[in-house]
Amino acid sequence: MKVSPSILNSDFSNLAEVIKFVERSGADMVHLDVMDGVFVPNMSFGPPVISDLRPLTNLTFDVHLMMQHPDRLIDAFCEAGADIINIHLESQAPIDSTLDHIRSLGKTAGLTIKPKTPAQAVFPYLDKVGLVLIMTVEPGFGGQRFMSDMMPKVEAVRKEIDRRNLTVELEVDGGINADTALIAAKSGADIAVVGSALFKSDDAPALVSSIQSIT
Ligand code: DX5
Ligand code: ZN
Repeated sequence: MKVSPSILNSDFSNLAEVIKFVERSGADMVHLDVMDGVFVPNMSFGPPVISDLRPLTNLTFDVHLMMQHPDRLIDAFCEAGADIINIHLESQAPIDSTLDHIRSLGKTAGLTIKPKTPAQAVFPYLDKVGLVLIMTVEPGFGGQRFMSDMMPKVEAVRKEIDRRNLTVELEVDGGINADTALIAAKSGADIAVVGSALFKSDDAPALVSSIQSIT
């Protein structure tokens, strides 16, 4: 599995050090959670912060937009340095044209679903995404419990990706640690977002490499 650490529960007063910590952990990318206070009951940061972080690392920026209108800021997130832009299927964005827009800017388009959204909802878009992100908690806060009842959904999306011979990556987000990453990988996930488990860990590189060794 690839590991994409979420910095949501890190020390925002020292984000430069946080990025270095993620790099030292050996992670494959960094997961940046953007919240607008409307789509989810919390707020975090936006393009200016991402743009300040961009020169600090070559890690892939995996940006997760928990926004009601992600379509209004795609150019801004792209200019700020996002590599993967994940929008929510439940947002108010026109999904097809927003995914097209992200791709037209040369970025990877990701489509994300909340726990109550069925797997089948992403099927019509699989041809135009590079990544599907399945939430394993209700979005909005770090440190919540992994919902193992999302695994049939991960399996269903994996099966459809494989049936159609697509190269779409399947990411899970919420409550991931070494144990739950294993469960998600068995269901077919190939990228694990790891937030609080990593920042609470005594040995971040060991945690990252143990998840990376899951096949
Ligand atoms: C939740 C965010 C997640 C979350 C991950 O709304 O999208 O990325 O912060 O954090 P943990 O691993 O603590 O659940
Ligand atoms: Zn996230």
